[in-house]
Amino acid sequence: MNDPTPLSRSFGYQSVDEREREQRIRRVFSAVAARYDLMNDLMSFGIHRLWKRRFVRMAAPQAGQHIVDLAGGTGDVAALMAAADRRVTVVDPSAEMMDVGRSRGHAHVDWMLGSAEQLPLADASVDTLTISFGIRNATRIDDALKEIHRVLKPGGRFLCLEFSTPAWWLRPFYNLFSFTVIPRLGAWIAASPEAYTYLVESIRRFPDQPRFAAMISAAGFEQVRWHDLSFGIASVHVGTRPAAAAPSGTA
Ligand SMILES: C[S@@+](CC[C@H](N)C(=O)[O-])C[C@H]1O[C@@H](n2cnc3c(N)ncnc32)[C@H](O)[C@@H]1O
Repeated sequence: MNDPTPLSRSFGYQSVDEREREQRIRRVFSAVAARYDLMNDLMSFGIHRLWKRRFVRMAAPQAGQHIVDLAGGTGDVAALMAAADRRVTVVDPSAEMMDVGRSRGHAHVDWMLGSAEQLPLADASVDTLTISFGIRNATRIDDALKEIHRVLKPGGRFLCLEFSTPAWWLRPFYNLFSFTVIPRLGAWIAASPEAYTYLVESIRRFPDQPRFAAMISAAGFEQVRWHDLSFGIASVHVGTRPAAAAPSGTA
C-alpha cells in the first residue's frame, strides 16, 4: 500500500480533513446502528462473539471495580462484564448505537455520550478500560491513548480488541473476502456500502501489532503485550498504567 494519506485523514479511499472524518464516522454508525450486530455476525460468521468472550476473560472484571467500555456501541461487551457489584459504563459518541443497546435492556450498564479523544471522565477514576473495534475510529489515536491513560487509576489496565494484521499465508484469502464480500454484505444487509468500504479501508490502514504496541507504550503504559486471535485477524493489546511511584524516603 503506497497511499500516503494518514489514518487520521482517510475515509474509505478518500482523503478528508480530520473534522470531516469525524463527522462521516458519526454518520456511518448512526446509519448502521439498527443492523450493526447482525452485520457483525454475518461478516465474521459469529466469531466476533468468541473473540469478545475471550477479551472479557482477559479483562477479568471484578466486584467493586469501575469499568469503562469505550466505543461500546450497542453494549455487547459491556453486558458481558456487567453485574450488580460493579459499575460498567459504555462511552460512545453515537447516540443511535447506544439507543439500540439501551433498548436491549442490558442490566447494570450505564451509558455516556463521549469520544475517545476527550473522555467525559475524571482523572484516575477507572480500574479497567476496554475498547473493542473502536480505537480505529478515533481520528487522533495518540490523543485517545493519552486520554485513556489519564482516566485509568495507577495500576489500572487498558485492553484493546481490534482488527489487526493476519499471518502472511492468510492474507490473500482475507483480502479477497474483505474487498469483495464485506462491501456487498454492507450494501445488501445494512443498505450502506460506504460504511463497509470505510470499515475495510480503516482496517487496512491500522498499524500492525508491533507498531500499535509501540504507540501504547509511547502513551505511558507499561507491560504492553498483545495476543493474536484467529491468526492475527484480530488482536488484543494490553497495557497497564504504571502504579504511582512510592514517595521518596520509603523503603
Ligand atoms: C465498530 S463499532 C464497535 C462497537 C462495539 N464496541 C463492538 O465491539 O461491537 C465502533 C464504535 O466506535 C464508536 N466511535 C466512533 N468514533 C469514536 C471516537 N472518536 N471515540 C470513541 N468511539 C468512537 C462508534 O460510534 C461505534 O459505536
